[in-house]
Amino acid sequence: MGLGFWLWRLTLLSAIFFSPNQCTCQKDGVVNSRARVLGGGSCLNAGFYTRASPHYVREVGWDGKLVNESYRWVERVVAFQPPMRQWQSAVRDGLIEVGVLPYNGFTYDHVYGTKVGGSIFDQNGHRHTAADLLEYANTNTMTLLLHAIVHRILFITNNKGGSSSRPVAHGVVFKDEHGREHMAYLKQGSRNEIIVSAGALGSPQLLMLSGIGAAHHLREHNISVVLDQPLVGQGMSDNPMNAIFVPSPAPVEVSLIQVVGITDFGSYIEAASGENFNHRSRRDFGMFSPKIGQFSKLPPKQRTPEAIEKAIERMESLDQDAFKGGFILEKIMGPISRGHLELQNTDPNENPIVTFNYFQDPRDLEMCIQGINTIERIISSKAFSPFKYDNMPVSMLLNMTANSPVNLLPKHTNTSMSLAQFCRDTVMTIWHYHGGCQVGRVVDTDYKVLGVDALRVIDGSTFNYSPGTNPQATVMMLGRYMGVKILTERLVADETK
Ligand SMILES: Cc1cc2nc3c(=O)[nH]c(=O)nc-3n(C[C@H](O)[C@H](O)[C@H](O)COP(=O)(O)OP(=O)(O)OC[C@H]3O[C@@H](n4cnc5c(N)ncnc54)[C@H](O)[C@@H]3O)c2cc1C
Ligand SMILES: *[C@@H]1O[C@H](CO)[C@@H](O)[C@H](O)[C@H]1NC(C)=O
Ligand SMILES: *[C@@H]1O[C@H](CO)[C@@H](O)[C@H](O)[C@H]1NC(C)=O
Ligand SMILES: *[C@@H]1O[C@H](CO)[C@@H](O)[C@H](O)[C@H]1NC(C)=O
Ligand SMILES: *[C@@H]1O[C@H](CO)[C@@H](O)[C@H](O)[C@H]1NC(C)=O
Repeated sequence: MGLGFWLWRLTLLSAIFFSPNQCTCQKDGVVNSRARVLGGGSCLNAGFYTRASPHYVREVGWDGKLVNESYRWVERVVAFQPPMRQWQSAVRDGLIEVGVLPYNGFTYDHVYGTKVGGSIFDQNGHRHTAADLLEYANTNTMTLLLHAIVHRILFITNNKGGSSSRPVAHGVVFKDEHGREHMAYLKQGSRNEIIVSAGALGSPQLLMLSGIGAAHHLREHNISVVLDQPLVGQGMSDNPMNAIFVPSPAPVEVSLIQVVGITDFGSYIEAASGENFNHRSRRDFGMFSPKIGQFSKLPPKQRTPEAIEKAIERMESLDQDAFKGGFILEKIMGPISRGHLELQNTDPNENPIVTFNYFQDPRDLEMCIQGINTIERIISSKAFSPFKYDNMPVSMLLNMTANSPVNLLPKHTNTSMSLAQFCRDTVMTIWHYHGGCQVGRVVDTDYKVLGVDALRVIDGSTFNYSPGTNPQATVMMLGRYMGVKILTERLVADETK
C-alpha cells in the first residue's frame, strides 16, 4: 500500500471537516474541545485513569493520607483494569524494549517506567463518569439542575465595615433550557458558600462575568467591577501532544489509552488504535469519528447532519484496510509555557478566547523532541514489528503525519524536517488544559477566592501543573478531598460554638 493511499486516508479521516479560520476560541492554531454536560470531560474523554505522584501531592501541600483515601473513594465507583489486546500489548512491549523501565504491571500509581493504567470504561466497555459519584450523594438534601447555565455570581458588599469590607458571594443568576432567568440565594447568616467547578475554561470566564478580573478588561465588556483581580485567566496551560500515525498490515483492536511510559525526561508516551467503522451498520466510534470529532477540524456547531452524512459516505467508499492502524503519542509534563484567557463576549454559552503559547519555553520543546525520539524507537522495535509496514520507514511515517492536517498551522514538509520543527508543526492538544484560577494567585490553599468571601473554585483551573500523566483521577479526587475538609471544618466550628 503506497504512501499516497495513506496520506489520502489520513487526510480524509482527520480532515473530513477541515476548514480553517472557523475556530475563534483559540489563538494557537490547535483545535480544542470541551464537554458541557453533567460529569464534564469524563463524559467524552479517553478514559485513562491514573493518580498523581506522591511528589506532586507533597509539592501542592495536600494531606497525603486524605488524598489516598479520596482516590480510593473515586476508584470504588469509576476505575477499572482495562483489557490488554494485541496493539496495546505491542506498545507496552515496545516501551519495555527501548528501555522505559522498570515494567510496573497494572497500577494506578505514578511511577517511572512502563505500566498499564486504569480506565473509566468497565469490562463491558461501558463508560463511567464523574456523575456516577453522585451515588454517594444524600438525595434528601441535594437538588441537581440540568441545563442550568450560570450567568453570574451575585455579591453584596457590607459597607458598614469601612475599608475592611469585602464583597460576599450570596447567590447566582442562571438560565434554564428555555432561556428563563432564575436566581438562587444562599441562606442568610449561614456558613454556606458558593463552589464553582466550571473547569479551566469555564471558571475564569464565570469569575470575569461576575466582576472578578482585570478591571480594564471587564470595562471593555461593560461588566461592573466587583474586584480588580488581573490574575484571573492568567497561567493558562495546555500540555502539547504530538503523535506519529502508524498504518498497520495486521488488524488492530479499537482502543483508547491503556498503557503509559513514564520517562525520566518529562515525556509521557501513550497510544490509541483503530477506527471502528462498520460499513454495514454505518456506525463508528474512535478518535477520528466524524460524530465524536475529537480530531475533527470543524467546530461541533457546524457538524450538521448533512455534513456528517457526507463524511460517512466518504468513509464507506474507503477500503476496510484504511481503518487499520493507530497512533503513538507523547505528551509533555508540566508544561512550563503559560498563556492566558480573555472574554470574547458576555455570553457564558460562548467560549472565551484562550492562548496557550505551546512550546514557548525551550524546555517544553526539548521534552517533545526526546518523546518523539522514543516513539521512533518503539515503532522500530521488534515487539511492534507486526503492526507496521516493512516498506514504511519511520522517516516516511513522520513525513506522513506532518503532511496531514492535525492542526491549523502552516507546514514545513518541503525540507528534511528536524524533530523540533515536527513538534511545532504537528502540535495537538490532549485536552489537559488547566489554570486560570491558580492556587496562590486567584484562590488560597483552601481554594477560597482571594479578596472576596463565601466563594471557592475547586477544579482543574486551580492547577499550576497538570497532575500525573492524565489529570481526571486527581480532579475527581480533589472534589472529594475538599468536600471532606469543608465538612470537617464545619463540624469543628459547630463544636466550638
Ligand atoms: C477529549 C478529551 C479527552 C480526555 N482524555 C482524558 C483521559 O484519557 N484521561 C484523563 O485523565 N483526562 C482526560 N481528559 C481531561 C479531563 O477530562 C479533564 O481534565 C477534566 O474533565 C477536567 O475537569 P474539570 O472539573 O476541571 O472541568 P470539566 O470537566 O470541563 O467540567 C466543567 C463543568 O462545568 C460546566 N460548566 C461550565 N460553565 C458553566 C456555567 N456557566 N454554568 C453551569 N455549568 C457550567 C460544564 O458543563 C462541565 O460540566 C480529556 C479531556 C477531553 C476533553
Ligand atoms: C499514598 O499512596 C501511594 C501509593 O499509591 C504511596 O506511595 C504514598 O506513600 C501514600 N501516601 C501516604 C501519605 O500514605
Ligand atoms: C458598552 O456600553 C456602551 C455604552 O452603553 C456601548 O456603546 C458599548 O457598545 C458597550 N460595549 C459592549 C462590549 O457591550
Ligand atoms: C519551504 O517552504 C517555505 C514556506 O512554506 C519556504 O520559506 C522555504 O524557502 C522552503 N524551503 C525549501 C528548501 O524549498
Ligand atoms: C514529505 O512529503 C512531501 C509531500 O508528499 C514530499 O514532497 C517531500 O519530499 C517529503 N519529504 C521527505 C523528507 O520525505
